[in-house]
Amino acid sequence: MIKIGIVGVRGFSIVSAVKAMPEEAQITAMCDLSEAALDEAKERIGLEDSQCYRIYEDMLEKADIDAVVIATPMQLHVQHAILALRAGKHVMCEVTAGITMDELWWLIEEVEKSGKIYMYAENYCYMPEVQLVRSMVKKGMFGEIYYGEGEYTHECSSLCYGDNTPAGKPTWRHFWQMGKRGAFYPTHSLGPVMQWFDDDRVVAISTFSPGRHNEWGLRGDDLTQTLCQLESGKLVKIRVDTLSPRPHCMTYYSIQGTKGCYEAARGLGDVAKVALDTDEDPKGHENWRSLWDNYRDLLPERYKDEAGKDAGHGGGDYYIVADFIEAIKTGVQPELNVYKGAEWTSVALLSELSVMNGGKTMDVPNFRKNMPYSEQIIKL
Ligand SMILES: NC(=O)c1ccc[n+]([C@@H]2O[C@H](COP(=O)([O-])OP(=O)(O)OC[C@H]3O[C@@H](n4cnc5c(N)ncnc54)[C@H](O)[C@@H]3O)[C@@H](O)[C@H]2O)c1
Repeated sequence: MIKIGIVGVRGFSIVSAVKAMPEEAQITAMCDLSEAALDEAKERIGLEDSQCYRIYEDMLEKADIDAVVIATPMQLHVQHAILALRAGKHVMCEVTAGITMDELWWLIEEVEKSGKIYMYAENYCYMPEVQLVRSMVKKGMFGEIYYGEGEYTHECSSLCYGDNTPAGKPTWRHFWQMGKRGAFYPTHSLGPVMQWFDDDRVVAISTFSPGRHNEWGLRGDDLTQTLCQLESGKLVKIRVDTLSPRPHCMTYYSIQGTKGCYEAARGLGDVAKVALDTDEDPKGHENWRSLWDNYRDLLPERYKDEAGKDAGHGGGDYYIVADFIEAIKTGVQPELNVYKGAEWTSVALLSELSVMNGGKTMDVPNFRKNMPYSEQIIKL
């Protein structure tokens, strides 16, 4: 039985998953600065007063826990992860992994030193449609894939203020998200596409923006377009857009291969679709077909069972917890390990430098290689 402590209210996203696996895991502690969050934890999880903490270090020291789910604001992620690892706890951490390049290397060093599990909780990788397309890619149905796109369009300027208007107190998002230049929140868009490209990695990025036009004068770019060159020479493009006044569409993806393509739905009756050459239809790439009507059967088997049906994001929130528990039990780092977390997060951090230098191409370091301290640099 793995005992889990949560820090930050967004960690409630694991509650239904953990409740659905009572033999495997249990939430035994909660930490948040807000009393209201702790009250909610008592109600939703059934925790006692003694299992609730306002000070994170107290939870690490006193609670009966093996692992921590970190869901505090992103500028605290590395600090909270390192404290947990040093206290001998496994970590599952919300996105993004960190807010400076130096921190990312530090995080990797600490994970390696600790021997504990670190899982990067990029939940969009676990969405059923992303997994369905992944199994089609693995079967070679798109041929050799060479181009992918991911877009996160989610107008959330109101989250920058305590009462959702500029009259309110600025929240952490005012500074660390919509206050930042570049593609500050890239991994919902990049992670799923990179999973389709298997073990490929981003080696260089270039980011452009149309400037700053939002009416509240938030400091970030209106939106960013980032081109990511992969080691294989292939290409991924991501759009991060949290300010444009438009309907939400957080999960737009596309993939192009030598035998056809996939595009997610973008709204107003649109559906996810593919156009594929097959032996029976060699010109199949000329016509769209509904993804779900035609290929639902290719969803990975575990997504067809009932286990995750009540969990959020189409059951994805169940499987991300299941993989974290499995990693702890086996001692093998999960697929979404610290190296991927660092690599995908670094796109945000390097994009700031790129966009402020007219789209300058920035090399992405190879976080998967053991970089000595002297080589942990940003190449300009
Ligand atoms: N994966 C996703 O789909 C997704 C969605 C939303 C947010 N997030 C990520 O989750 C994290 C939290 O986002 P949010 O929207 O829940 O933010 P939020 O501001 O709504 O909540 C943050 C919580 O953390 C608590 N907190 C802050 N500092 C703390 C500290 N030092 N010790 C203990 N508690 C502390 C706050 O009291 C608050 O309850 C962010 O990193 C964000 O990027 C991920």
